[in-house]
Amino acid sequence: MSKLVFYNSKGGVGKSTLSMCIALETGFPVATNDLASQSTGILPEEKFKILAKEAPFPEIPSDLDIIYDLAGHNDDRIIPVLREADFVVIPIINDRKEIFGSLKTIETILEFTNNIVFIANKLEGNSGIDFDSIKKIISTRYNFPVFPLKKSTIFDQSEIEKKSISYVYNKALEKKMPYCKAFEKVVFQMKEIINYLLYNKK
Ligand SMILES: Nc1ncnc2c1ncn2[C@@H]1O[C@H](COP(=O)(O)OP(=O)(O)OP(=O)(O)O)[C@@H](O)[C@H]1O
Ligand SMILES: [Mg+2]
Repeated sequence: MSKLVFYNSKGGVGKSTLSMCIALETGFPVATNDLASQSTGILPEEKFKILAKEAPFPEIPSDLDIIYDLAGHNDDRIIPVLREADFVVIPIINDRKEIFGSLKTIETILEFTNNIVFIANKLEGNSGIDFDSIKKIISTRYNFPVFPLKKSTIFDQSEIEKKSISYVYNKALEKKMPYCKAFEKVVFQMKEIINYLLYNKK
C-alpha cells in the first residue's frame, strides 16, 4: 500500500497536476487541504476529497493507497501525514529562484521525513535551466533522487478527458497525431516516476 504526498510551499509547481496524473494512472484516491483546489470533477466523487479547514485529517487505514496534494500554508495537520508518507514528492520548476525557494521547503520538513523525491517539472528544450543543472543544484545539498519531467499538453488533455496520460497517448498514437512522439517521452518519464514511488519503499 502506498501513501504518496505531493508537497511544496511554492505554488504552481505541479503538485495538483501530478497528483491527478498518478491517480488517473493508478486508481488511487486523492485528498487535499487546498480549499481552492481546481482538481474537482476530474476523478469520480468518491476518489477526491477536499479536507475541511481545521478539521483533523481522517485516519487512513494502513491497507489503503492514497495520494495527498498538500498546500504548504501554515497547516500543522500535515505533519503526521509527512511522517507517515512512503514518499514526499517535491515538484520543482526550472527557474533558479524558484528552485532555491523550494529547497527552503525541504529544510522545514526534514525533521519529519527523509523519504523525499524531487521531480524537475515543466522541463523545456529551449528555456529555463536544464535538467543536469537542476540535478547539480540539488545533489550538492541532498542525496535524494531527482526525476525529469517535460512540459507537455498531455496533462491538460488527460484532465479534460478524465483519462490517464497512457490512455491519451494511446489514442493519439491510434490517430497518428503529430505530437505522439512528444507524448511518448512524457508517458515514459511518468512511468519511471510511478514505478519508483510504488516499488522502492524504504
Ligand atoms: N509537466 C507539465 N507540463 C505542462 N504543464 C504543467 C506541468 N506541470 C504542471 N503544469 C501546469 O502548471 C500549472 C500549475 O500546476 P499545478 O496547479 O499542478 O501546481 P500546484 O503546485 O498544485 O499549484 P498550487 O500551489 O497553486 O496548488 C497548471 O496550469 C498546470 O497545468
Ligand atoms: Mg495545487
